[in-house]
Amino acid sequence: MAPAQVACCDSSLFSSGPPPPPPSPRFEWPEPIQRVQSIAESGIKCLPPRYVRPVEERPSGHVLVEEQIPLIDMSGLLDERRAKTMEEISDACKKWGFFQMINHGMSSELLNAGRDVSRRFFQLPLEEKQKHANDPKTYVGYGSRIGVQKGVVLDWGDYYYHHFLPASIREEHKWPSKPLEYRPTMKEYCNGALQVCRTLLSVFSQNLGLPPKYLEEAFGGEEDMGICARVNYYPVCPQPDLTFGLSPHSDPGGITILLQNDVSGLQVRKGDYWVPVRPVPDALIINLGDQIEILTNGIYKSVEHRSIVNNNKERMSIVIFCNPDGDKKVGPAKDLIGGSNPVKYRQMTFNEYRMFIRTTGTKGKSYVNSINSTS
Ligand code: OGA
Ligand code: NI
Repeated sequence: MAPAQVACCDSSLFSSGPPPPPPSPRFEWPEPIQRVQSIAESGIKCLPPRYVRPVEERPSGHVLVEEQIPLIDMSGLLDERRAKTMEEISDACKKWGFFQMINHGMSSELLNAGRDVSRRFFQLPLEEKQKHANDPKTYVGYGSRIGVQKGVVLDWGDYYYHHFLPASIREEHKWPSKPLEYRPTMKEYCNGALQVCRTLLSVFSQNLGLPPKYLEEAFGGEEDMGICARVNYYPVCPQPDLTFGLSPHSDPGGITILLQNDVSGLQVRKGDYWVPVRPVPDALIINLGDQIEILTNGIYKSVEHRSIVNNNKERMSIVIFCNPDGDKKVGPAKDLIGGSNPVKYRQMTFNEYRMFIRTTGTKGKSYVNSINSTS
């Protein structure tokens, strides 16, 4: 019987060896935290050794400036250009896993207000920012590294991470208390990003031939899906060729919505090359994370990206992650598997998944690949 065959096929894939469970995280930073901003502002001329990448991992070379990720005008979804716009999004998801969008519904004022409160937070004196220092149990707060492995090379950037949804874990008192406008502004910003995300989840679902609400529901619906923010601050770097602002990684969650300032630095992997993302005023940069790869059984893939730094301008980005509910199991959509499309990824909750990343730090696409039973 056909269904039995599918099940048998699935289990044989899994018996080929499920990956080991994520290691239990250590609940403290393995080394004293140094703020990259403080190191940069101390005026050093040489990069401290703990930020220096081995020669074969440095950012130079393999950069393809001739290519660009697609730029999509989202206002096309609202008029007679709808079918064409849906198609453009579909192509961008399949070919790139990355695109920029304009006319996305978040006003220029809101984007600038978000940039402004973020910059003002990082301009505060160090003692003020330190009041919000984070720890690896939750990552919420002011941080300077991802992952708790001792002795690894660190990235040249600081960040502030906090939740927005589900409301039960928002903990607004853990958002920056200064500048005073931070909380109201970022609430509005996160709400705007939530609407962008819901539109994208619906468009992706329809492009995949699924019911329009499929992906949103797989994320837990409006009540339980996760929205969190990471504001990245990349100070000027004395030797930018030796390090990264953020080393190559795919985003573990669902959809990422990134706003950068006018300083370029984000690069997207295309085969063996890295394509720099050209800053477009008020565009939002969208990329697909590992959970979308899993839910679509690999029809859409998460894509590695990295950010480089430079020696004359600081760079910032506001990154909103739209994730599945942490406790809900995520696996390939039933309508996208069967027959010639065997299940490629095993199910797990997003909380289980991100525990691994938070322990080991960012390492390309190693984790999503490890739960792919065909690679
Ligand atoms: C991230 C990320 C890139 C950037 O925060 O996950 O990829 O340019 N940021 O800040
Ligand atoms: Ni990222």
